[in-house]
Amino acid sequence: MAGAAPTDRPEAAEWQNPLRDKRDKRLPRIAGPCSMVIFGVTGDLSRKKLMPAIYDLANRGLLPPAFGLVGFARRDYADEDFAQVVLEAVKAHARTPFRQEVWDQLSEGIRFVQGSFDDNAAFDRLADTLTTLDKERGTGGNHAFYLSIPPNMFPVVLDQLCAHGLAQTTGPDAARKPWRRVVIEKPFGHDLHSAQELNALVNGVFPEERVFRIDHYLGKETVQNILALRFANQLYEPIWNANFVDHVQITMAEDIGLGGRAGYYDGIGAARDVIQNHLLQLLALTAMEEPISFEPKQLQAEKIKVLSATKLVEPLDETTARGQYTEGWQGSEHVVGLAEEEGFDPNSKTETYAAIRLQIDTRRWAGVPFFLRTGKRLGRRVTEIAVIFKRAPHLPFDQTMTEELGQNALVIRVQPDEGITTRFGSKVPGSSMEVRDVNMDFTYGEAFTESSPEAYERLILDVLLGVPSLFPVNAEVELSWRILDPVLEHWAAEGRPEPYEAGTWGPPSADEMIARTGREWRRP
Ligand code: BG6
Repeated sequence: MAGAAPTDRPEAAEWQNPLRDKRDKRLPRIAGPCSMVIFGVTGDLSRKKLMPAIYDLANRGLLPPAFGLVGFARRDYADEDFAQVVLEAVKAHARTPFRQEVWDQLSEGIRFVQGSFDDNAAFDRLADTLTTLDKERGTGGNHAFYLSIPPNMFPVVLDQLCAHGLAQTTGPDAARKPWRRVVIEKPFGHDLHSAQELNALVNGVFPEERVFRIDHYLGKETVQNILALRFANQLYEPIWNANFVDHVQITMAEDIGLGGRAGYYDGIGAARDVIQNHLLQLLALTAMEEPISFEPKQLQAEKIKVLSATKLVEPLDETTARGQYTEGWQGSEHVVGLAEEEGFDPNSKTETYAAIRLQIDTRRWAGVPFFLRTGKRLGRRVTEIAVIFKRAPHLPFDQTMTEELGQNALVIRVQPDEGITTRFGSKVPGSSMEVRDVNMDFTYGEAFTESSPEAYERLILDVLLGVPSLFPVNAEVELSWRILDPVLEHWAAEGRPEPYEAGTWGPPSADEMIARTGREWRRP
């Protein structure tokens, strides 16, 4: 397998390589020699997601033996102390079982650089560490820089990478130059203007093809399966349009509250936190046209096209809703309201629930409303895309026979209980003709023996392989802000969001918003 692995593949040329198509794509691809430097390595994301994902990749044999993991932070750690932190994170959060031999190999490439972001000497040490890793471990000068840090820290880190010659590589043979990539986490700005500034800043140091923006929803198996469902089958695409679809509901409901994240969340809110990125990406994959191939550029082109045609519906006080949770019960647990969450300003106008109605001005989707909603402390944790079909144009039954027949639906269950449900009418057994809704389910856990990789495993591997398909480009980010900005401005000019009780499905205004169109939210 190692023989098939790409090692020194030049940037971008990967996707133009005619030999690539001949490779057996069923074999997982292994990253070539490289290292990953994580800034913000002592943060939650790094501990719970990044370090475990790196171990899981190693455990699955997808990292090269020549791999380096470099932590950069202010803590006064030696390499061994940092390795211990990684080990604890792996043991607590990795998806795959712990194997000592995998850990032993991975830990040999673990290094730590102590310093603050404005400390020139620390970046000199980082450059030395990477050069040493190249020599000792054979990482080949290929380095990814993962900025798991607040965006206001981006400028100084990017400047330092640039000033210390870490952002670019030089060499006589451009095609075989080692690569340098940057990985950034959301928020990608807080409105269109700031996103444009951020993109200009990042692209000033790393050209767009070397920027990997993480939207971890795109790394989820079920999200990638939207493309398989739509474009590998004959069954759905013919009815995937305004002739057959009544409306689409995209829901990301969480049962958790803000917990320790109140500081980050206050001032951001549900719409910026997840609609701008995860939910609009789900919408784009659900609504886009068939790409001519799955080459990243083609995929991005289709997403950009559909996002360009996506619009809010006026007036916004009738087509949007927002709320803040108050104390309540989640199952048998009594939970506090937002005002009591530590670090949250009790007078804050930040919403923990947001719902918006969108339209897509294309022939395929003319007149089909897309409803997006998300919230914290809702009835249960569920993310799904529900495509609700129009009623049959004619029902040759007495009305009493179809009283319990709803609309056909196709529901992509993103999480938990990953799978797809089709809802349709069926005759109730018995002597009379009574038709009632039934569900037909496909569940990953039953259909496949292998458990799905974590989103971060897939995304980190793709960064190391240089495959950009699952990373939104700056045009997508900016288009998403263009869609959302008017709602944010509208809400900013209004008072406090409407309260909703924890454990319910959001504020009454959200129900009213959809009821105005003669529809109702699903209660998953
Ligand atoms: C993050 C948001 O992007 O996604 C969080 O910032 C949210 O607020 C999280 O809780 C949910 O991710 P997942 O994968 O658990 O659905």
